[in-house]
Amino acid sequence: MCGIVGYVGPKEAAPILLQGLKRLEYRGYDSAGIALVNGGTRLQVVKKPGKIVALEEALSSIKAKGTCGIAHTRWATHGAPTEPNAHPHTSAAGDIALVHNGIVENAQTLRAHLRDHGFEFLSETDTETIVHLVDHLWDDGMGLEDAVAAALARVEGTYGIAVVSARDPQKIVVARRGSPLLIGVGAQGEMLAGSDATAVVAHTRDVVYLNDGDYAVLTPDGYRTFHLDHGEVRRSVERVTWDVGAIEKGGYPHFMLKEIFEQPSSLRDVMRGRLLEENGDARLGGIAAHQFDLGRVRRIVITACGTSWHAGLVGEYMLEELARMPVDVEYASEFRYRSPVLEEGTLALAISQSGETADTLAALREARQRGATTMGVVNVVGSAIARDTDFGVYLHAGPEIGVASTKAFTSQMVALALFTLHMGRRRHLSVVQGKEMVEALRRLPDQVEEVLGLNDQVRALAEEYADCGNFLYLGRGYQFPVALEGALKLKEVSYIHAEGYPAAEMKHGPIALIDDDMPVVFLAPRDQVYQKVLSNIEEVNARGGRIIAVVSDGDTELKSKVDHVIRVPQTIPCLLPVLTTVPLQLLAYHMAVLRGADVDQPRNLAKSVTVE
Ligand code: G6P
Repeated sequence: MCGIVGYVGPKEAAPILLQGLKRLEYRGYDSAGIALVNGGTRLQVVKKPGKIVALEEALSSIKAKGTCGIAHTRWATHGAPTEPNAHPHTSAAGDIALVHNGIVENAQTLRAHLRDHGFEFLSETDTETIVHLVDHLWDDGMGLEDAVAAALARVEGTYGIAVVSARDPQKIVVARRGSPLLIGVGAQGEMLAGSDATAVVAHTRDVVYLNDGDYAVLTPDGYRTFHLDHGEVRRSVERVTWDVGAIEKGGYPHFMLKEIFEQPSSLRDVMRGRLLEENGDARLGGIAAHQFDLGRVRRIVITACGTSWHAGLVGEYMLEELARMPVDVEYASEFRYRSPVLEEGTLALAISQSGETADTLAALREARQRGATTMGVVNVVGSAIARDTDFGVYLHAGPEIGVASTKAFTSQMVALALFTLHMGRRRHLSVVQGKEMVEALRRLPDQVEEVLGLNDQVRALAEEYADCGNFLYLGRGYQFPVALEGALKLKEVSYIHAEGYPAAEMKHGPIALIDDDMPVVFLAPRDQVYQKVLSNIEEVNARGGRIIAVVSDGDTELKSKVDHVIRVPQTIPCLLPVLTTVPLQLLAYHMAVLRGADVDQPRNLAKSVTVE
C-alpha cells in the first residue's frame, strides 16, 4: 500500500526520492507525488495519477531542484486516484507539504472545524486535514516539529507521516502511529525516511524504527526522536542485514519468478541454526529469549489474512497431529470484530509476511486484551506485529517484492513446522519421531530445488491451459490449504477465476461445474488420505473433467487416470505442502505471463494491506 520516502542532505533530493518510490512500487499504488524545498516561499509540488514514470517525466520537464524533500505513492482509500487526491497535500500558501499512510478517523470533525476557520479543501482525502491542522496550529516561534506535534495531538486514527516546510527548510519531521515509519541514518550529512527499509537501503543500512507515538526531526546534522507524551526519547540504530541485491531482479524477468526460485535458500535461512539433530528438536531463539513456558499453552488461535491464513491452516493440521494441540485458525478480519472466547492458556499466533496487515494487528491486540499470550510468525524485522507480540519466530526470507506471496508462504509453513516440532517434543513426540522430522526438514531445500527443475514442464502445461476461464483446485488433509493457496495464486496474478476446495466437498456443489472447460488440479501426493483422493479423481473422471495431478515420485497408479502428472519428491506428510505448493506457484506465474498480466503488481492488489 502507500509508501513514503524522505531525503535531506547535500545532494539533489528528487532522484533519490524517485529511486526510493520505485523501490516501494511493489507495495501497490495508483498515484505518486513529491514535494521539494527549493529556497522559495512555496514548495515545489508535483503529483501524478498512475505510474511513477509519469511523475518522473513531469519532474524532468520542470527541472525540479532542492536538497530536502518528501515523496509518496498512494493506494486510494478516501477518494479516487486523481491528481488532487494524490499526496503530498499542501497548506493554502503552499509552504507546508505532508504525506501520510493510514487513516484519520476524525477527519470529518477536523474538516468541519478547519472550514470554520477559513480553510479550504482541495481533495477528498482524510490526509488533507492534517496539513491544514499543522498550518492552523503553527504559532510564531514554533519549529515545524512543534506544529506537527500539536496537530497530531488532535488526530485520531493511524498514521505514518513526513512533513516539510518552506518556513523551516532543510528539515523533515516524521511521525508514526500504527503505520510504519523509519529513519535511515546516512553518511556525511544525509538523513532519509521511509515507510519501509527498501526505500532507504540503497543509501544506508543503519535504520531507526520509530515506535507508535514517536516523532522525529531530520536535518543534515542528524536526527532527534521524541514521543508525543514523553518528550525526547532514545531509539537505537539497527542494521538491515540484507543488501540492495535482495530487492533487485537479479536477471529474472519478474520478482515473482525470482522469489519462487529463491525458495531453496529462503528455506535454508528459516531453518539456519534452529535444527537440533541430536534431540530431534528445534531451537527458536525468539521464544527461548522470552522464557515463556510453552507448557502453559492449552490452545492456540492462529489469526492471519490471505496467503498467511493458508499457512495457518497447514500449521493447524501440524500442531494437531504432531503436538496434539487444539488449534483454531481465524481470518483476522472476522476474529477482531467477534467476541472470541479466549480462556486461560490461549496463545494467539499471528502470521504475517509484512508484519503490517491492519486486520492481523488488530486481531492480535484484541486477543491480548482478552488475556491471551501473543506470538508472531513474521518476515519483516521490526514491523508492527513483530514488535507488538510477546515473542515470535522470524522467517528471515529476505524482502518479498512480488505482491503475490511465494517464498514467504513456504517459509511460514516451515517456521510453523519448527514450532510444531518444538511444541511436540514438549508434549507427545518421541525423540525418534523428532529426529525423523528434523531429517525431513533438513532435506527439504534440496527437494524444493528438484521441484524447480519442473519449471519447463509446468510452463508447457500453462501454454496448454492459458485460455481457460476457470480452474478448480482440490486437496484433502494437509493438501487442502495447498489447494486454497494454488487457487488464490492463480486468481491474484492471472485473473483467472479459480476455487480451492476440500476434494471430498466437491460432490456437495462444485461437481456441477465440471466439464472439459474447467480443468481440475488435484493435490495427490502419498499421504494418509491418498486413497481417498483417488476416489475423488474418479468422480471427476466420470464427468469428463480434465485433470492435472501433483503426485509423489514413483506414483504409478495415477498416470493412467489423469491428463497430466507433476511429480514431486516424497517426504513426511506435514512437509509435503511445501513441495506441492511450488509447481502451483509456477503454474500461476506462467499463466499470468502468457496472458500478459502484470505479474509483480496485479491490478487492485497491495502487498501490505494497512487499512481494514
Ligand atoms: C495482501 C497480499 C497477500 C498477503 C496478505 C496478507 O493481501 O497481497 O499476498 O497474503 O496481504 O499479508 P501479510 O503481510 O500479513 O502476510
